[in-house]
Amino acid sequence: MNRYVRIAPSILSADFAYLGAAIEMAEAAGADVIHVDVMDGHFVPNMTIGPPVVAALRKVTSLPLDVHLMIETPERYVEAFAQAGADMLTVHPEATVHLHQVLRQIRGLGVQAGVSLNPATPESVLRYVVGLVDLVLVMTVNPGFGGQDFLPEMLPKIAAVRGILDAAGSAAWLSVDGGINVETAPLVVAHGATHLVAGSAIFAAAEGVAAAISALRGSVSAARDVA
Ligand code: DX5
Ligand code: ZN
Repeated sequence: MNRYVRIAPSILSADFAYLGAAIEMAEAAGADVIHVDVMDGHFVPNMTIGPPVVAALRKVTSLPLDVHLMIETPERYVEAFAQAGADMLTVHPEATVHLHQVLRQIRGLGVQAGVSLNPATPESVLRYVVGLVDLVLVMTVNPGFGGQDFLPEMLPKIAAVRGILDAAGSAAWLSVDGGINVETAPLVVAHGATHLVAGSAIFAAAEGVAAAISALRGSVSAARDVA
């Protein structure tokens, strides 16, 4: 099956002094989603932004805001991010002892709920929550920083998640995050990814944001599922 692949620029690699301009450029270039990385300095060894910045971004784009919470006990903050205008909130299973409950909490706020799998986290964590999930985010690097190298050993995991979603009849997004570029994008799409998160390949591209997005799109236009 040949899926239309969505592109989600990660603003982590944009110039934080000009985030609004970066998002406008990405939107004008045909981005489908804006990926926002929230880090707390505990769950990952880096700190970024919180709800006030998400609220500011909400004003400059009508694209879905896909907010990736790399924070401990995300249940404390999902309401604030929902009020700030997040369309999707993705949490890591290791960050909460109540994954099932926080996914219900997110959906209860009228927001789409996501689960993100670190490189060492098996896809089996999805088993009892797949019905509560609108997005699975497979990390293809260890979270915390942009610009890292893609981990090819994650390809079988992407295919395994594809199988879990299909078996459950789930239309959840299968997004990949980390080291995505014109070389790795066709591989992840061939293994079943529907959404590509890309930071440095878009916002640090010498050729500019528009050319980078169109190159990424072009790289997957012929990719097909292996399944
Ligand atoms: C990493 C973040 C990613 C990051 C990806 O922890 O979750 O979204 O921005 O950056 P690149 O595309 O440069 O690997
Ligand atoms: Zn991310």
